[in-house]
Amino acid sequence: MNHEEQEQTGIAHEPDLYIQGGRPLRGEARIEASKNAVLPILSATLLTPDAVRLPGVPWLHDVDTLSRVHKALGTDLQREGHDLIVQTNDVDPFAAPEHLVRRMRASFLIAGPLLARFGAARVPLPGGCAIGSRPIDLHLKGLVALGADVQSGNGSIEFRAPRLHGANIYLDFPSVGATENLLMAATLADGWTTIENAAQEPEVVDLANFLCSLGAEVRGAGTAELRIHGVRRLHGAEYQVISDRIEAGTYLVATAATGGDVTVAPVLPEHLKPLLAKLREAGGVIEVHGDTVRLRQSERLRPIDVKTMPHPGFPTDLQAPLMAALSLADGTSVITETVFENRFMHVSELRRMGADIKIEGRTAMVTGVSHLTGANLHASDLRAAAALVIAALAADGRSTIADAYHLDRGYANLEEKFAQLGADIERRTCSEVL
Ligand code: EPZ
Repeated sequence: MNHEEQEQTGIAHEPDLYIQGGRPLRGEARIEASKNAVLPILSATLLTPDAVRLPGVPWLHDVDTLSRVHKALGTDLQREGHDLIVQTNDVDPFAAPEHLVRRMRASFLIAGPLLARFGAARVPLPGGCAIGSRPIDLHLKGLVALGADVQSGNGSIEFRAPRLHGANIYLDFPSVGATENLLMAATLADGWTTIENAAQEPEVVDLANFLCSLGAEVRGAGTAELRIHGVRRLHGAEYQVISDRIEAGTYLVATAATGGDVTVAPVLPEHLKPLLAKLREAGGVIEVHGDTVRLRQSERLRPIDVKTMPHPGFPTDLQAPLMAALSLADGTSVITETVFENRFMHVSELRRMGADIKIEGRTAMVTGVSHLTGANLHASDLRAAAALVIAALAADGRSTIADAYHLDRGYANLEEKFAQLGADIERRTCSEVL
């Protein structure tokens, strides 16, 4: 039942999160390894029969989902605390379970590695999701260029290529996932592959660095042109994944929204540059020391204009959280979402708290109000849920958030971390009838 149906039937979603707003956040937030680097790197372990150890991997639903896909394929995957030990030397490349791949689009990143290592694979088609149709045309076009035969039907795609060969690929859009899938496939293809208009996100660079630690030959990571020289075999490694810039950014935006003083660590400050530039424009005082970033917001947020772009532009994953904060700014901000076609799902819920937001196509005009009021809210996707948490922390009064499980996809121990920063937040499960 969607939100409206629940209200009509009188049976409310079980509120998961209860937040009493109005308290400035203060203290330090510990940042985990990056979800969007762990997922492609965990897929890349399919490229080698040797054991791979990934220390410090956070307990996230998305990591759990991909781990379950791996186990269904036959991967030997062990958790030792926060360490993941993975060995993929006994894998059936046709065994990826549909219900898991459909649950999480990033599961499709197993396609390139399975095809490159085993010469054939069947991968269920990932579904769309709340933020857009999420096509995979660029993935498929690149794999065909590398020599794959692609047959789709019955909700999945069969790939066959006795041996992949190098190719010159141009991506119509610098898709993160397509860049990652093709980069992984090219590491075992015969000869040289060039990927032009490649994604430059830090998570793509981390994947490239991981692949090089396995013995791959990759050049140009972090630029728009990747060059890969295929090798016969890759070996195992131990690899520390980079810090999560989107988790860190979420805590910094929450600090700005509540007028607080918070340090996030460990982080890679250069990965946060687009966000830090915008938070400074909005009046935040920011100090960078080594792997820590401190933000103090002593004055009301100033309005700013933001346009999401592929890296090194402003990250689309922080658009919803930042809009929540700018709902309280001293003027009108203009936010343009250029990456996804439907990433304003949080707007209707923010309006229910008193936000003044007008949507015109892919642009939101956010006119700051003096205060937001707590409300019973409903999360639609991971980053929209983060936006609602931020708005509730900054609002007057109590808010509840139903379907907060979306948060668990990408934020470990979210309520504990916010509580340690002084927030009045707790997770409860109870059913209530309107
Ligand atoms: C990755 O998704 C991230 N997920 C997303 O984070 C992030 O928002 C996105 O990159 C953009 O930065 C992971 O890394 C697991 P894309 P991905 O392919 O790879 C279109 C989060 O909240 N496109 O760069 O799916 C697509 O429709 C998640 O952590 C095609 O048209 O993103 C979209 O409009 C959400 N054809 C645009 O490109 C294709 O074949 C960007 O998609 C592929 C993509």
